[in-house]
Amino acid sequence: MISDKSRLRIGLIGFGCVGQGLYDILQQLPEFGAVVKRIAVKNPTKSRTLPADRFDFHADDLLTDPDLDVLVEVIDDADEAFRLVSTALRNGRQIVTANKAMVAHHLPELVELQQAHGGTLLYEASVCGSIPIIRTLDSYFGSEPLHSVGGLFNGSSNYVLSRMTEEGSDYGPALAEAQALGFAETDPTLDMGAFDPRSKAVILVAHAYGVLLNPDQVLNLGIENITAQDIRFAAAGGQKIKAVASLQRLADGRVTVFVTPQLVGPASPLYAVEREFNGVVIQAAFADAQFLRGRGAGGHPTGSAVLSDLAALRHGYRYAYHKHTA
Ligand SMILES: NC(=O)c1ccc[n+]([C@@H]2O[C@H](COP(=O)([O-])OP(=O)(O)OC[C@H]3O[C@@H](n4cnc5c(N)ncnc54)[C@H](OP(=O)(O)O)[C@@H]3O)[C@@H](O)[C@H]2O)c1
Repeated sequence: MISDKSRLRIGLIGFGCVGQGLYDILQQLPEFGAVVKRIAVKNPTKSRTLPADRFDFHADDLLTDPDLDVLVEVIDDADEAFRLVSTALRNGRQIVTANKAMVAHHLPELVELQQAHGGTLLYEASVCGSIPIIRTLDSYFGSEPLHSVGGLFNGSSNYVLSRMTEEGSDYGPALAEAQALGFAETDPTLDMGAFDPRSKAVILVAHAYGVLLNPDQVLNLGIENITAQDIRFAAAGGQKIKAVASLQRLADGRVTVFVTPQLVGPASPLYAVEREFNGVVIQAAFADAQFLRGRGAGGHPTGSAVLSDLAALRHGYRYAYHKHTA
């Protein structure tokens, strides 16, 4: 039995898909020893799955509450997320986020704030949902040179391309189906235009190669112009078209990063990653090839990554950014 005193006290900012997912997981895992003490949301009139008195509407109050051990920021507004996370770090706090756009656009500043004020930020949920790729790169492969890291970082675009391949359909109907089933947003630009996987590539390149980039420095080509004819052309050569993020160390030492539609053959483990799933292949100097596959989104899969960050924080873990020298 875990005493109330030793429970990790969480301040949860955002109670949508991911926030609710984390809450459910913690309810199902009392042995984890954590309690969600306060929850901040935005809209006071929205109906909730918990009693009204469980909710705050001023996230800033949580940032300064000394009775909270850790903050979890899972809101859908990247600018506000940066304001909240950077304020928390300035106060030396421990915070977990899932916001890839926010992390990708502000990584140098977020690293500096941790160094200057002693706080910690973890963000495993921001890349490929449930797949433990950031800590794998940062810690496990922190010392080993990597030839490449590549993968399918966006379940929505992968779903659309899978359906186009299965049905022989064009982009429009496959997108409409993905939207109807909740696998794609009403505004598909971020996912189909490869802006979302570009943010994830920017985060991974910091941990894989120690390079801090701005998303604008990374080429992203979306899948909006892929046609049924393109898919048939690929299939005639035994290949599929996938939206692949590529991070690569070139022979001259330079690192290239881009996200584009690419032909993928059956020799690649990514060939069999279909629909809403994500996959990452790491090509390491000594370990050789490693492959991780899993759910890239959804309340419970993404909540699982947040849970793992909470456990890591409890043990004093922080990203080492081993390969970052500048
Ligand atoms: N959904 C996924 O599968 C997934 C996967 C990986 C990463 N992520 C990332 O996780 C984050 C959250 O995504 P989500 O899908 O859970 O979003 P969501 O379902 O749209 O929920 C967003 C939540 O944030 C709250 N919120 C917005 N602005 C706020 C503010 N200023 N103060 C307090 N609360 C505020 C909203 O409040 P109200 O309830 O009052 O509207 C809502 O509860 C995003 O950065 C997303 O990119 C999501």
